[in-house]
Amino acid sequence: MNTKKIIIAIDGMSSCGKSTIAKQMAQKLNYIYVDSGAMYRAITLYFLRNNIDLTNTDQVVDALKEIELDFRYNDQNNQVEIFLNEENVEYLIREMLVAEKVSEVAALAEVRNFAIRQQQKMGRKKGIIMDGRDIGTVVFPDAELKLYLTADNAVRVERRFKELYEKNPNISIEEVARNIEMRDYIDTNREISPLRKADDAIEINNTNLTPEEQLEKVLSLAHQVLG
Ligand code: DC
Repeated sequence: MNTKKIIIAIDGMSSCGKSTIAKQMAQKLNYIYVDSGAMYRAITLYFLRNNIDLTNTDQVVDALKEIELDFRYNDQNNQVEIFLNEENVEYLIREMLVAEKVSEVAALAEVRNFAIRQQQKMGRKKGIIMDGRDIGTVVFPDAELKLYLTADNAVRVERRFKELYEKNPNISIEEVARNIEMRDYIDTNREISPLRKADDAIEINNTNLTPEEQLEKVLSLAHQVLG
């Protein structure tokens, strides 16, 4: 049996299917999956609830001291869920209110340092797949396998719309498109660790790939590294 454990970093713009493929790979390889975006979303939820002024660094730093994030496995639905100060916020953080603010929060240096420290700690034992925007470039620059996912804009909007519409039929496709466009813009243009493809990342455009084809492709890449 192959006991070698690696780190797999998956980056890419919003809604290009990172979490879906990361979860599937984690299950096949028996690895831990970490959704780094969920951490930024949970921090954003805390900031919104507590009216934290993002332009006030002292307030931001003090607020971060009150935040404890934790990923826990839920054996009812076989999902890893995020907890904010002992509260399961996995579903709340997907709401539009959070999505509208998260890129601004994630652009703050204090917030990134807070999240990155915890992410790097989670990777110490390897056997982990993490998805996000800066995983292959900043969090795990030495990751053994780096994937950079892309998909056509229209496809990304449609996918995210379908996902959100199930929970909220009042949502419009224009609203979803605007949000994705805004987040992509902020995430790729921010000063600190903007989204970009790591030089050694393998780019996969999944616009025309079925989920099965995509999984086959990435698993074969993982097995090449694992030997
Ligand atoms: O992956 P997601 O859409 O849930 O991420 C939410 C936001 O968090 C995204 O717009 C940018 C930010 N993010 C980040 O800056 N760095 C990461 N590693 C992951 C997410």
